Amino acid sequence: MMIPPRLCLGLFLVWSSSVLAQWDASRFAWYTTDAGGDFSSALPIGNGRLGAAIFGSAVEHIVLNEDSVWSGPWQDRVNPSSKTALPKILEFLRAGDITAAGDVAMGDVAANPTSPRAYNPLVSMDIDFGHDSGLSSYTRSLDTAEGTATVTYTNNNVNYTREYVTSYPHGVFSVRLSASQPGKLDVKVTLSRDRWVLSQTAGVNTDYVTGGNYIALKASSGQESDAITFWSEARFVNSGGSISSDGKSVSVTGADSCDIFFDAETSYRYPDETSALAELNKKLDTAVNAGFSAVRSAAISDFTGLTGRVSLDLGSSGDAGNQETPTRLANYRRDPDADPQLVTLMFNFGRHLLAAASRDTGPLSLPTNLQGIWNQDYDPPWQSKFTININTEMNYWPALVTNLAETHSPLFNLLRVAIPRGREVAKNMYGCKEGFVLHHNTDLWGDAAPVDQDVQYLSLT
Ligand SMILES: *[C@@H]1O[C@H](CO)[C@@H](O)[C@H](O)[C@H]1NC(C)=O
Repeated sequence: MMIPPRLCLGLFLVWSSSVLAQWDASRFAWYTTDAGGDFSSALPIGNGRLGAAIFGSAVEHIVLNEDSVWSGPWQDRVNPSSKTALPKILEFLRAGDITAAGDVAMGDVAANPTSPRAYNPLVSMDIDFGHDSGLSSYTRSLDTAEGTATVTYTNNNVNYTREYVTSYPHGVFSVRLSASQPGKLDVKVTLSRDRWVLSQTAGVNTDYVTGGNYIALKASSGQESDAITFWSEARFVNSGGSISSDGKSVSVTGADSCDIFFDAETSYRYPDETSALAELNKKLDTAVNAGFSAVRSAAISDFTGLTGRVSLDLGSSGDAGNQETPTRLANYRRDPDADPQLVTLMFNFGRHLLAAASRDTGPLSLPTNLQGIWNQDYDPPWQSKFTININTEMNYWPALVTNLAETHSPLFNLLRVAIPRGREVAKNMYGCKEGFVLHHNTDLWGDAAPVDQDVQYLSLT
């Protein structure tokens, strides 16, 4: 199932009620600590294709995802011995020998290799502010109505704000970093990836493709010659101060604010580098020219156009709702009736996740996988696949009943990709003249072959 970031951290600070009053208890998840090393506590935002998980640490860490970055190219996993094994298996079953039937099935009906592809991370963005002392008055918040995230704190008597937005209309992830005093913002930004980086460049005032201040990272998702390749780029627009690059990272010094615009495009949707880069540049040029405020307000009006269709009221929590989210979750275990707005918040959080993870982004749109679209691992739990024996269904349970019908369409896109694969498997593994089969998982290629080789209920002895 879509594993929601756990809204649970152990630590909390005491806040004055004037600070608390700004948080609508049904709408905001908020915290007085960063996510630490816990991915499942990072704040997830997305535009259906790009996902960002925001840790909010002193040196900001953002795990970025693009929904078509998976571990490898299409693989034909059909096991041809299946067709001849099938009559033998049926014979054993008719004779009541379930163990023998299971043994033959495990040997001859398992696919080769046994698993579809795994969902993989895109890149990480790290933002070093050079803070040399602790952060105070810290808050990190997720706005489930707008689909945005914010981090605010004080350091050396300067207030810092980090505003995060993923835009469906502009197709980008965007950040505004700002300081409450002029010239007090210093940042060094890097993009990184642990595996298969093909090239990494950065520059300022250069003419890399269309010019500007940029970091670009090109990588492949595996070692195969036809592995999925992607091109990612961050562009920088600073207000005040100076900007420089060491060829790998970009640094902004003595600025009032700095805006970052990010996109990635992959060979899953574009046949070659030229067309992928053309799309990347089109999106980034449009976003940079529009500017952060316009990108942010277009993103919010799009997102609230989905989330704003439903307003759930289960009653007011009063003071019980005026606590940071981890405290409310802890209190809920003791007295679930005291904070009905926590239930409303979870309902809104679920709709936020679906709207952020599943949008029509063209003919090769992809639905939510096991982790939505947020993942930092190269070998994620259950490969973070599309697990279609219940978890994909569970992800989409809220789609129609909570008036988010258009989030459904990527699921039907994937089925269209899977149908020809499933016809091949029905024919070549089960000897069916017509019809189509999918097993309990699929991937972005519509993989239809059997999955795994450990059906334990087949070895009853
Ligand atoms: C900075 O933050 C503190 C604590 O939240 C607040 O009281 C103060 O007004 C802020 N100052 C500015 C200049 O925004």
